[in-house]
Amino acid sequence: MNRIVYVNGEYINEHDARISIFDRGFLFADAVYEVTAVIHGKLIDNEGHMARLERSCKELALTLPVSVDELKHIQEELIRLNDIDEGGIYLQLTRGSAGDRDFAYPKDAQPTLVLFSQARSLIESPKAKKGMKVVTIEDIRWHRRDIKTVQLLAPCMAKQFALDHGYDDAWLTEDGYITEGSSNNAYIVTDDGTVVTRPLSNDILHGITRKALLQLASEADIKIEERLFTPEEAMKAKEAFISSATTFVLPVISINDQAIGDGKPGPIAARLRKIYIDLALSQTA
Ligand code: PDD
Repeated sequence: MNRIVYVNGEYINEHDARISIFDRGFLFADAVYEVTAVIHGKLIDNEGHMARLERSCKELALTLPVSVDELKHIQEELIRLNDIDEGGIYLQLTRGSAGDRDFAYPKDAQPTLVLFSQARSLIESPKAKKGMKVVTIEDIRWHRRDIKTVQLLAPCMAKQFALDHGYDDAWLTEDGYITEGSSNNAYIVTDDGTVVTRPLSNDILHGITRKALLQLASEADIKIEERLFTPEEAMKAKEAFISSATTFVLPVISINDQAIGDGKPGPIAARLRKIYIDLALSQTA
């Protein structure tokens, strides 16, 4: 690929991009990130992503080197320079480099800001038609999952475990309950059509797509319950699905090889996917 990427104030060819080996993002995963979907060359739900970025920064005493308006301008420039119709913009902010390795936060390091685009199809997804098979495994992540840090080895291990064992993704469990997917929020649908998802806390990422979906669901008279649920309840659910900025809503058709409902993508997941995509498309007009 030959993308133009953004690194600390410059738009450059991806092959010319350079970051210090002492950058704390590289040494300590001392960095936060956001992924915003792009449809028809327009950013989707970006205000929510920028608000969460500001919150992540605050929790870690990280300072954004540019304003949120400037970030939006950079995102839009990358869409334009790389001619992105559908895909995403990845943004990462690290605490920068102090020129050596030291656990303490450096006093005078300049933060590192990197953004790049990814072209990929989002609306047409084979998994939306086929559904996903998930496996549950223990959630071994740290206790501040509400902060969107680049500390992603545990989710990478979970995803790889799922793929190596013939599943599409992993749902993580803690104290007998599902927390979320490896890189998405998790939902089930009960027999009476209620959508159940874990309430917000430090145990899960506060998904921007989740927030929009819960609003859309209540407008569409779909009942919502924010509460904990177990893998056993999930395996007996009528439907299950996930949400994230890059997948929107995708149906889950089996959990630990147990078919969910009739083992086919369910109607509530399909309906929520459609109304979320309609909302996204309305932001591109
Ligand atoms: N992941 N939970 C986790 C652990 C996530 O990593 C994500 C997003 C979500 C969904 O959040 P949102 O709806 O704001 O995308 C939930 C992104 C897409 C990623 O890491 O690529």
